Amino acid sequence: METNTVISAVTPETEGLTDQCAITEPLDPCTIVIFGATGDLTARKLIPALFNLYQHHGLPDRFVIVGCGRTRLTDREFRTKLEKALPASDSSDRDEWQDFAGHLFYHAIDYDDRSSYARLVDTLKSLDGQQHTDGNRIFYLALPPSLYQPVARRIGQAGLSEENANGHGWVRLVVEKPFGRDLETAVELNRSIHAYFKEHQIFRIDHYLAKETVQNVLMFRFANAIFEPVWNRRYIEYVSINALETLGVEHRAGYYEQAGVLRDMFQNHMMQLLALIAMEPPSRFKAEQVRDERIKVFRSLRPFSTENIAGHLVLGQYGSGRIDGKNVQAYRKETGVDPNSLTPTFARMKIFLDNWRWQGVPFYLTSGKRQAEKITEISIQFKDVPHSMFRQVLGETITANRITLGIYPDEKITLTFQTKQPGARVCLRPVTMNFDYQQYDVGPVLEAYEKVLLDCILGDHMLFWRQDGIERCWWFLTPILAACEICEDRGRKLYFYQSGSWGPKEAANMGP
Ligand code: BG6
Repeated sequence: METNTVISAVTPETEGLTDQCAITEPLDPCTIVIFGATGDLTARKLIPALFNLYQHHGLPDRFVIVGCGRTRLTDREFRTKLEKALPASDSSDRDEWQDFAGHLFYHAIDYDDRSSYARLVDTLKSLDGQQHTDGNRIFYLALPPSLYQPVARRIGQAGLSEENANGHGWVRLVVEKPFGRDLETAVELNRSIHAYFKEHQIFRIDHYLAKETVQNVLMFRFANAIFEPVWNRRYIEYVSINALETLGVEHRAGYYEQAGVLRDMFQNHMMQLLALIAMEPPSRFKAEQVRDERIKVFRSLRPFSTENIAGHLVLGQYGSGRIDGKNVQAYRKETGVDPNSLTPTFARMKIFLDNWRWQGVPFYLTSGKRQAEKITEISIQFKDVPHSMFRQVLGETITANRITLGIYPDEKITLTFQTKQPGARVCLRPVTMNFDYQQYDVGPVLEAYEKVLLDCILGDHMLFWRQDGIERCWWFLTPILAACEICEDRGRKLYFYQSGSWGPKEAANMGP
């Protein structure tokens, strides 16, 4: 019998914590140049994140944001456009917006035209002089992936990637996923960016790593002594990592038809969640030490046998159905999707890590669109007790312990264990001990994009991908993608599921 009885809340020892946790490092003045400034990402995520940071004193005293896009706009038109796109908020925000907007400028650009970048050099120099931003620059590529290489190259050719020369301070390049579409293209993308930027200048974003609850996995595992001794094959039966969402493909069919769920969610977010759960303790809480340990997990991934792929991977695509009381259409009927599309929108993968700690423990990774609910969580299922002295009275089955790390919507950590059901009879009662992040006022929490932008300004790489990690994950996934995308019975290996369900039933047959 499972119950959700919450038997205890956690009382945080918060005294003195606020000071300890505040951002203490001074932030260098800088210019943030956003390529793709008239696009969706800039309006929906980047500017609201920068504005929020500004409101919480999370930006340097001296900063400039320069939007670059193909559309011809004046600074004033750019500011108005972004203001209109802001999420609804109170009027005091609007007053602060006016101050913030004074830092926003616009520069029209033709992405592949050299002379456009020569003009950008002049604009940046002049803003630098006016605003005293010390030549420190972040170039953010909020662009379609096909433009990453040409734009990085043009930035480099214009001399803008050089650090500490010609009036420049530090220079950083921010790249959004996807980082290539297979091993070969990822290596090529890296090679062309490295022609002008050094690895320490490159920030490859994974917004999952910047989620508070995801970062907390490190604290939970390595700031507590009691979990680490049981965090291995001797005590853990399996691990499941789920990132399920109710959204469909929305307006991104052009991209998603090419990507599918494996490239969209597995090559990046799912792999990073896996790495945080499975990594060894880093020797220091420093970016390279932490990234080294995450990457060692990727090096331990056991390659799939592509002959028996069905035992390890189930792919699905959503059909029509109902979500939140509304009818939704099938993936193949979405605007921009091929009516015969074989692109998977759901995948469940069973993987193993070939190392001492995890040998034989299955990791079930599941992600899908148009699921019954939006849930992102990681469950650590412990083994059964080795011998039950309650067998005679209670039977064979005693539900084993489980730790759940809730990422969304419930930001929580729970531990499920057995207790005695109160009363005369000997009965067990599984109960859940719950820590809820929202339970106590812990001050302003940074949204993922705020954290990402702040870390770029600070130059902290801990929550970003390193190229060797990306290549290792592509090394693992590329043969799987090839087996799924090239084989002739591709259609037969794609299972359709109803929108608003939990994916194809074939996925459940794979195991827990
Ligand atoms: C993005 C994917 O990286 O992550 C989207 O491209 C997906 O397809 C999104 O919807 C999920 O992110 P989150 O933070 O809502 O779980």
